[in-house]
Amino acid sequence: MPTVTELLQARTSIRAFTDEPVGEEEVRQVLEAARWSPSGGNLQPWKVIVVAGEAKDEVSALAQQTLAANPFGEAGEHAIYPQPLGEPFRTRRFQVGEEMYALLGIPREDKVARLQHLARNYAFFDAPVGLFFVIDRQMGHGQWAHLGMFMQSVALVAQERGLSTCMQESWAMVRESLHAHFGLPAEDLLYCGMALGYADEDAPVNRLRSARAEVAEFAELRGF
Ligand SMILES: Cc1cc2nc3c(=O)[nH]c(=O)nc-3n(C[C@H](O)[C@H](O)[C@H](O)COP(=O)(O)O)c2cc1C
Repeated sequence: MPTVTELLQARTSIRAFTDEPVGEEEVRQVLEAARWSPSGGNLQPWKVIVVAGEAKDEVSALAQQTLAANPFGEAGEHAIYPQPLGEPFRTRRFQVGEEMYALLGIPREDKVARLQHLARNYAFFDAPVGLFFVIDRQMGHGQWAHLGMFMQSVALVAQERGLSTCMQESWAMVRESLHAHFGLPAEDLLYCGMALGYADEDAPVNRLRSARAEVAEFAELRGF
């Protein structure tokens, strides 16, 4: 059994999956473990919608239609990134993007190919299962962080079970259409998607090992 540290290091965002299915019971087991995630006041401010098969195809088709009609998307007041994005965050974002497109063999000038790759998000990169994470609109920054912990738990448990994931805020671009499609109550806000499946080990894009700042760059340890 891998340790938590090993799982943390092994988990990377996977952007090409095999067509091997992931069964309902497998998904339930992942959620069963992840529900033990902590949250302030034990609010457990998360809801999850899982799609596979036809249900997955429907949301992919919906995303395509929505973005064709409105390329600026539906992220609304919860934009994916702050604009403008200050340093060092801007550079980090740029760097991981360049590293990913280098592995995909897509040069900077080829905007069409880059957009085509971005569009692969809406097919969950061919993963057999997609998850959507939903939060109640009354929740504030604290509870959004707690939802993030839950998502990390899902990703780590999946990793433990030999599955791979890619978290996908790109689905925020179609959040209003998905909200209507799923018939969610007005108070629900669809935050983020996640692809879940088995990694295509031969796909170069899956070799991406993104950089991290050293501990000394983000941590201050005092009083030792
Ligand atoms: C909340 C969240 C949303 C993300 N959304 C996307 C996305 O829409 N598409 C994508 O390809 N990667 C997405 N990512 C993956 C990040 O780019 C990735 O986590 C980061 O570059 C670090 O790389 P790693 O996950 O391989 O360690 C997302 C990650 C997180 C945590």
